[in-house]
Amino acid sequence: MIRLKNVTKQYGKIKALDGVNLEIGAGEMALLVGSSGAGKSTLMKLLYREERPSSGSIVIGNIDVSSLSDSKIPYLRRRMGIVFQDFKLLPHKSAFENVAYALRGLGAEEYEIQKRVSGALNLVGLLERAFNLPSELSGGEQQRVGIARAIVQGPPLVIADEPTGNLDPATSIEIFNLLSKISERGTTVLVSTHNQHIVENIGKRVITLDKGRVTSDTGPIIRSTGLAQGLKR
Ligand SMILES: Nc1ncnc2c1ncn2[C@@H]1O[C@H](COP(=O)(O)OP(=O)(O)OP(=O)(O)O)[C@@H](O)[C@H]1O
Ligand SMILES: [Mg+2]
Repeated sequence: MIRLKNVTKQYGKIKALDGVNLEIGAGEMALLVGSSGAGKSTLMKLLYREERPSSGSIVIGNIDVSSLSDSKIPYLRRRMGIVFQDFKLLPHKSAFENVAYALRGLGAEEYEIQKRVSGALNLVGLLERAFNLPSELSGGEQQRVGIARAIVQGPPLVIADEPTGNLDPATSIEIFNLLSKISERGTTVLVSTHNQHIVENIGKRVITLDKGRVTSDTGPIIRSTGLAQGLKR
């Protein structure tokens, strides 16, 4: 699903990423960890083409992201959902309209919008808050809206950069459980976090970055040969 080959990202003299090789399979959920400045956000920005690598190649599905022209970025982004630490909801639009926004932009039929948005809000458990504004929702509820928005078009990939960075521990666990549920439905999920409790207890693959390099990559992986638990790679 995601393949990075020898990816380096340089900002002036800083190597934010340094020779990263990584493969994440379709339907897999992986946690990206590492201290502040390790390169987690940079790696994610390369995936959604907010930034371009200085060298190396990045392929998502059958899209060569590293050589993608700017005009094809919307095409790439329709195939992924992005979840942000600060939610990035439109403050004057209801939960429903936040989730519907991209579909409306694409000119979807009203019945299609109703069906898809209700389905996404139902999945995140927020159907009854559909007509509340973000300011009327708790942080955890706002992040659920952010996740509903990310999945409403049924993307094969969801990328979440510290989605629980602004949330309390109990709410963080709920959000991670929701992301697990989404991955179990077949979506590839890549999520960065500083939450050590979740890293240790969620039972997912953990990729560690340190100074722009992958220094460890452990945890469950579903291979075509079957389920292997706790593999050290
Ligand atoms: N636009 C930029 N210009 C210059 N340097 C940058 C830029 N973006 C990131 N960096 C640098 O690249 C390195 C990696 O940053 P990045 O944001 O990817 O880290 P991170 O792992 O996401 O950290 P955090 O856990 O604090 O979010 C840091 O040294 C950072 O200062
Ligand atoms: Mg970051």
